[in-house]
Amino acid sequence: MTNYRLYDNDLPEYAVAVDIYATPELHVVVQEYAPPKTIEPATAERRLRNALQVIQQVLALPMDRLHYKLRKAQKGTAQYQKQGEHERYHVVSEHGCKLWANFDDYLDTGLFLDHRPIRQRLQKEARNKRFLNLFCYTGSASIHAAVGGADHTLSVDMSNTYLDWLGQNFDLNNIPFTELDGRAPLPSRLPPHATLRADCVEWLARTAQDDRAPKFDIIFCDPPTFSNSKKMDESWDIQRDHVALIGDAMQLLTPGGVLYFSTNRQRFKLDALEGLKVEDITLQTLGEDYKRPPAPHRAWRITRG
Ligand SMILES: C[S@@+](CC[C@H](N)C(=O)[O-])C[C@H]1O[C@@H](n2cnc3c(N)ncnc32)[C@H](O)[C@@H]1O
Repeated sequence: MTNYRLYDNDLPEYAVAVDIYATPELHVVVQEYAPPKTIEPATAERRLRNALQVIQQVLALPMDRLHYKLRKAQKGTAQYQKQGEHERYHVVSEHGCKLWANFDDYLDTGLFLDHRPIRQRLQKEARNKRFLNLFCYTGSASIHAAVGGADHTLSVDMSNTYLDWLGQNFDLNNIPFTELDGRAPLPSRLPPHATLRADCVEWLARTAQDDRAPKFDIIFCDPPTFSNSKKMDESWDIQRDHVALIGDAMQLLTPGGVLYFSTNRQRFKLDALEGLKVEDITLQTLGEDYKRPPAPHRAWRITRG
């Protein structure tokens, strides 16, 4: 049993996606994308009720294991904010890792299913490597790297909530970890596994200039489309600002190191990256359950030219 997208209809602006989670007992998360104004509310309501009923009957699913979310166009960081107080967390399995998922309280569950193949790739490539996870969210990629035998993982995010969640994920897999101070320079001797709270944009720019900062063999960078918070002086936009971010990340790579850069921003255009070798690996990073347009994300493997 694995976590996968069971169904996704082909109206991107009015879609219903059904995700299955590999918990000990089956859980299903249904996400409805808010219907456009051209659809009568009663029609949308009928369609949703029918869909939920069919899912429940076909899968013989008790109601408390069917979770429903309405996705609307989000402003700012609303996508990452808490939306409920159920506080029910479930252990899901993926490639030999255990991860906490929450199906009710946030718009996202703690695990982005479309990134399943890239997490597996990171796990396979991480043995005896130093791994840096930027915008790490709940750190699922770090857990994969650690389980795959990485000598070091460092996970950076500016959210206490998600770093705490990552801490719970480390505990769940019996992996000890250290919390580093995001305002201090990175220690030249890294602990085996560490978390660090910082604005990745500012932290990367600062650390890239620090000659004594340790380098990494693999960096995974999957930034949000837009980032803005009280903790940041200026807003950050992936289309406008990705070249500088990638440039800073490259400074932290070992000579043979690899940066995996990914985004779910539709219509994103990767600008020219001078002196770097860039390979579009999007197709390799899509599981069978996501291999139909539009791709949920795009991904690149970037090395020194
Ligand atoms: C697009 S997700 C990253 C998904 C993650 N890479 C994964 O594969 O599961 C957004 C994450 O970026 C974090 N974030 C947003 N802006 C940030 C910033 N400027 N610095 C650090 N973290 C940021 C949010 O707290 C959230 O955890």
